[in-house]
Amino acid sequence: MDFDQYIDRRPTESLKWKCYPEDVLPLWVADTDFMCPPAVIEALHKRVDHGIFGYGLPPEGMDQTVIDRVARLYDWEVTAEQLHYVPGIVTGFTLVLRALCQPGDAVIFQTPAYPPFIGSPMASGLIGIQNPMYLDDQGVYRIDFDLFEKQIIDHKVKVYILCNPQNPTGRVFNQSELERLAEICLRYGVVICSDEIHCDIIYDNKKHIPIASLDQEISKITATFLAPSKTYNIAGLHASVSIIQGDELRKACEQYATFLIGSPGVLAMVAAKAAYEHGGEWLKQQNAYLQQNRDMLGESIERGELPGVKWSKPEATFLGWLDCRELPIEGSHQEYFFNTAKICLNDGCTFGDVGKGFLRLNFGCTRDVLSQGIELMAGAIKMLS
Ligand SMILES: Cc1ncc(COP(=O)(O)O)c(C=O)c1O
Repeated sequence: MDFDQYIDRRPTESLKWKCYPEDVLPLWVADTDFMCPPAVIEALHKRVDHGIFGYGLPPEGMDQTVIDRVARLYDWEVTAEQLHYVPGIVTGFTLVLRALCQPGDAVIFQTPAYPPFIGSPMASGLIGIQNPMYLDDQGVYRIDFDLFEKQIIDHKVKVYILCNPQNPTGRVFNQSELERLAEICLRYGVVICSDEIHCDIIYDNKKHIPIASLDQEISKITATFLAPSKTYNIAGLHASVSIIQGDELRKACEQYATFLIGSPGVLAMVAAKAAYEHGGEWLKQQNAYLQQNRDMLGESIERGELPGVKWSKPEATFLGWLDCRELPIEGSHQEYFFNTAKICLNDGCTFGDVGKGFLRLNFGCTRDVLSQGIELMAGAIKMLS
């Protein structure tokens, strides 16, 4: 697979590429610009050629594919009855919130946070509690566990939405961090809703650990969401997986699922199965390419090509969380770069209170496009001096 190949997405309905005028370079929405694995395209062609698209079941063997995958990757034993397929992860965690909470209940998550972690509880009449992460002296984003516990007690938190690997900081939480989070949740009866959508795009031989795989007690209070969507660039098809091992928790969610969210489309499921079954080698190549993109961006920052910009090197995801607070920009950083350099980045303010002065850059693009992005940013920074 040639990840350097530029494929024009503007003739499609791409949100990332069609939302802004043609002269704007879009490094925002979290999908990549790569063509998905050939096996996915072949499976879709074959299914489309059949020509009938009535109501579907998950493709034969899909459950086993997921069961084998999590056993192989995480030594995690799950059963078919614990699996469900949902169109998307945002719908999935919103469903968990609706199933378990009453208006006015509190939901906690780390910030900076993927914006729907803030928006979804709010839209459901819940109180979102922001648990800010901090940078340690090694420049690594860490969780403030004492504050996390205090906030849970003070606000009688019902649900914790965990994002691991974390968007936007790119942290991959390690076993001891996950154990501490789970212990606190177990102590106060907090349900964990674990969004692990970024778990396959991971660097430097780091290892993803699903929090529910740590032990049985934790698995009973956890709803885990996985998906091939970011991994294989098929997010627009909408197929994700939920794994809920606790019977009580699963039943509470199932009641809502049938009527509120339905199941993914038949083509989405065909693509998901083909990706999980045949996308292994493609994924290895993609992650190697993305890791080089990450390093290229990191080296630009280290060499001072983007003076005033700092970051904490992401351990996962194709997202860079850029600390631009030192830049002498009055008003919105996002608007400054958009208007001055015609580059579209995500505004840190949308990731919670701690995101002011930050920008999120999506490096899931060809290296040429990433170079253009760095050059555009550098030019706009020069104009500040
Ligand atoms: C952490 C996280 N969760 C969920 C999503 C979206 O998932 P879906 O499209 O399946 O709702 C994203 C997309 O950027 C994400 O970064």
